Amino acid sequence: MNKVLVSLLLTLGITGMAHAAGDPEAGQSKAAVCGACHGADGNSPAPNFPKLAGLGERYLLKQLQDIKAGSAPGAPEGVGRKVLEMTGMLDPFSDEDLADLAAYFASQKMTIGMADPALVARGEELYRGGKLDLGMPACTGCHAPDGVGNPQAAFPHLGGQHAQYIAKQLTDFREGDRTNDGDAAIMRSIAAKLSNRDIEALASYIQGLH
Ligand code: HEC
Ligand code: HEC
Repeated sequence: MNKVLVSLLLTLGITGMAHAAGDPEAGQSKAAVCGACHGADGNSPAPNFPKLAGLGERYLLKQLQDIKAGSAPGAPEGVGRKVLEMTGMLDPFSDEDLADLAAYFASQKMTIGMADPALVARGEELYRGGKLDLGMPACTGCHAPDGVGNPQAAFPHLGGQHAQYIAKQLTDFREGDRTNDGDAAIMRSIAAKLSNRDIEALASYIQGLH
């Protein structure tokens, strides 16, 4: 991906989203039901449940809106984001509730995991260098060299996230099972260029990245 496109996406990210800032304290009091899977402070103990701590407020709010739309009982295929484990769960939450939840989890700090030493070199090469021969950009351009993402542009924080969850997302983007990455299909087009081994190496590297 070239610099012009990245800065265009940044501009769209900054100006294109309605943004009512949430209240983290109110969010904490609404987050009790989330803790069983995501951890009370958003650092989930289970590798298939994503950590939410520090993901970025805009990214979190967008995911909550997408999950609410895509995981309502009977939601049509291809709308929003389908999370079976959260079916119907966000229905009772208003836009303000979602903004408060996003503000609360964004205010927490993601814990860092460990990378598999055998996969670090390949993971780092892909994360920092992309696959130039296939025109796949490096991850650093949007998710930052240390994995903190770009909160204003709603590019999620990755560093420390569970490898199993990251691998599932990259596979879902590649197979078209996660389609909420916008009309430009940024993550679907990137994941299309990744083999299973690439995904395994990237996911392990990201789990230890900080
Ligand atoms: C029964 C377990 C469960 C509960 C309870 C639950 N979630 Fe989730 N949530 C999941 C799973 C599993 C995923 C990831 C699905 C996937 O693999 O794509 C997820 C994904 C998410 C994501 C997307 C994370 C990302 O990195 O993109 C957000 C945001 C989220 N949940 C917020 C919440 C909030 C807020 C609550 C409480 C109102 C909640 N969840 C309750 C299981 C749960
Ligand atoms: C041009 C910008 C851009 C580049 C380059 C990029 N990403 Fe992303 N990535 C995004 C955006 C935007 C999203 C959020 C999509 C959405 O809103 O659901 C995202 C989401 C993700 C997610 C889902 C995170 C979660 O919590 O569910 C993963 C995993 C990911 N990217 C990994 C990567 C990896 C690995 C690379 C490099 C091979 C990469 N990305 C390169 C923009 C980018």
